[in-house]
Amino acid sequence: MSEVDAQQAEENRIDEAVERSDIAIEVRGLRNSFGDQVVHENLDLDVRKGEILGVVGGSGTGKSVLMRAIIGLQNPDAGDICVFGKSMIGELNDDEALAIRKRWGVLFQGGALFSTLTVAENVEVPIREYYPNIGPALRDEIAAYKIRMTGLPAEAGPKYPAELSGGMRKRAGLARALALDPDLLFLDEPTAGLDPIGAAAFDDQTRRLQQTLGLTVFLITHDLDTLYSICDRVAVLADKRVIAVGTIAELLATDHPWIQEYFNGPRGRAATAAVEREKNKAASTPPDGRR
Ligand SMILES: Nc1ncnc2c1ncn2[C@@H]1O[C@H](COP(=O)(O)OP(=O)(O)OP(=O)(O)O)[C@@H](O)[C@H]1O
Ligand SMILES: [Mg+2]
Repeated sequence: MSEVDAQQAEENRIDEAVERSDIAIEVRGLRNSFGDQVVHENLDLDVRKGEILGVVGGSGTGKSVLMRAIIGLQNPDAGDICVFGKSMIGELNDDEALAIRKRWGVLFQGGALFSTLTVAENVEVPIREYYPNIGPALRDEIAAYKIRMTGLPAEAGPKYPAELSGGMRKRAGLARALALDPDLLFLDEPTAGLDPIGAAAFDDQTRRLQQTLGLTVFLITHDLDTLYSICDRVAVLADKRVIAVGTIAELLATDHPWIQEYFNGPRGRAATAAVEREKNKAASTPPDGRR
């Protein structure tokens, strides 16, 4: 089989796996450590296809390390990670690695845009890397489309990251994560550092994109408003593993002290109250929008 055929065969296999299974990511018995420090031990997690899964846990509990392990940037000591039915552990050949990496987009904690490239050039980086045959004109067009898709004005394209506000930089990072039309989106603290209005707008955008593009989203966040407003389920990292996963109502029914303190503390209660207010407002508004 030629190299192109082999790559195409692998992409077709992933297409079928995406169609077939309800599970996008399956993590089993994962162990990660740095020297003597064990970050994860016997960690299991399923991410369902088409959901926004919120991932929470205290600082340093290993949320970013978990994400890095799933996308192959961190070599686990033990366990298995399958993405669309393909094990990420052990050596993937080049065709397999390329085919699977095209399926996800990543917004790293802090954004991680290339500061010497414009926003449009940043968005074009993965296109150049994975689709070297796409010419400059089409590449520019795709980048412009992705930039608009994230709610940035077209004028942001030629700007450098340092010329943007924090919220605009996050959107630029999101545009780059969407560059290859992924099935899976990884977002690490996307609303950290944004004001509440900017954070809510970013959440709305994430939800809209997830719905229109049919994405599965792995969303690491400390933001209770984000968890309440857009996450279908939430996974809680503590004691080196995922101690619980479910809707917030399901999590509240558990008696783990960290979960109770997190969701039932003053901030958790405020977020619940805000969601309830929104629901009541929607329920008391007649369908034609008049009150
Ligand atoms: N490359 C590395 N080398 C050594 N230790 C690391 C490395 N990456 C992460 N760690 C350690 O692993 C632990 C988990 O880190 P991680 O970044 O996953 O935490 P986190 O849950 O994402 O925290 P935060 O909410 O602050 O982002 C931390 O103690 C961190 O110091
Ligand atoms: Mg982190």
